[in-house]
Amino acid sequence: MNHNINPSKKIHNIQDAIELSRKRLPRLVFDFIDGASGDDKLAEINSAALDQIRLEPKVFRNVENRNLTKKIFNFQFDYPFGFAPMGMTNLSWPEADKMIARESAYLNVPTCVSMASSTTLEDMYSFSEGHSWMQIYIFQSEEFIMELLKRAQNIGYKVLILTVDVPILSRRARDDRNGFGYPFKIGPKQFFDFALHPRWSLTTLLKGAPKPMNYVTSKSGEKVFRRKESRGATDWETLKRIRNAWKDKLIIKGVMNTEDAIKIKEAGADAIQVSNHGGRQLDSATAAINALPLIRKAVGDSFPLIFDSGIRSGSDILRALALGADFAMFGRPLMYAIGADGARGLRRIINLIKEELSTNLGLVGLTDINEVDKKIIAEKIFKDLNY
Ligand SMILES: Cc1cc2nc3c(=O)[nH]c(=O)nc-3n(C[C@H](O)[C@H](O)[C@H](O)COP(=O)(O)O)c2cc1C
Repeated sequence: MNHNINPSKKIHNIQDAIELSRKRLPRLVFDFIDGASGDDKLAEINSAALDQIRLEPKVFRNVENRNLTKKIFNFQFDYPFGFAPMGMTNLSWPEADKMIARESAYLNVPTCVSMASSTTLEDMYSFSEGHSWMQIYIFQSEEFIMELLKRAQNIGYKVLILTVDVPILSRRARDDRNGFGYPFKIGPKQFFDFALHPRWSLTTLLKGAPKPMNYVTSKSGEKVFRRKESRGATDWETLKRIRNAWKDKLIIKGVMNTEDAIKIKEAGADAIQVSNHGGRQLDSATAAINALPLIRKAVGDSFPLIFDSGIRSGSDILRALALGADFAMFGRPLMYAIGADGARGLRRIINLIKEELSTNLGLVGLTDINEVDKKIIAEKIFKDLNY
């Protein structure tokens, strides 16, 4: 048997990467990535709702040359997608953060650095060659947040993402079942799980367990990441303080309600990220894609909207753009790809998505991603959905 076979050769779509990473990663790690909150259904509902939106092939359009470049704020990117913030990414494989950052530099797309990332803001900015956006939650201490903002500004970060859909951390049954928590506790169950996945365990052992590096390197004394601490005291006044403290672009992430969207726009945010946190927060929420056209209508045509939650393919990006997004973000697909085959797996999945995006743009009869609008949706569905 050849053990050196390149696993990426077995990846032909996202499902292949999911299955490969399921095999390679300890169950505790795979479930942390794959899991959703409560009844564990919303992540699937997000993707199923995207699938329901069918597009319409159009012919005789001369689609030989196609443009995928997209501008958001004053940045010109090569593709209309970026990488969503994810904490503790290095759990999927040592140096996963670095792989994601490097891929974003290679592609000329943004990568969002979670405040709970396992690599410092400084290193991520350097690995991504300046393609990093910074993401924060408001919790533990506002002093620490303000220190992070100053730190980010000094490094050169131009975009801040304030995630607002985790005022309280939701329960994830799979994590509880597996005894997943932070800091990691390794009892017999976890030991057995790790022993069954020696490649992951040995590499992780060699590189050391991932740490929340922005905390470890903090000067304010806030050196411990208390994942379960309440973030519930955040309110509209908090938004004002953050808006005052951060002069560059500010994105509010995790918005699903039209009234909230209007208020956030009025409060001076520069963009909204429509998202239900990949189904990891309010389990009974609607699919994120259902909220997107309503929020687009509420905020008007020109206000920047970013979308995430359930995007798994090039077609999904087209669907999100058709329903009002300016830009799409991937979460779990990056982790599945890295779990399946590290940086090579990531490159493979992104190549498949890029290719599908370009092909399907042509198949719906367009040559420029900036021309995508609701007219690419199959007419009957379009009417049924009342968009
Ligand atoms: C393992 C994991 C960690 C995450 N950590 C964060 C985080 O630190 N900050 C944040 O704003 N969102 C976080 N998210 C949510 C993602 O940014 C994004 O909203 C979601 O994954 C998108 O859905 P998708 O996974 O279906 O693409 C996390 C998601 C996952 C899967």
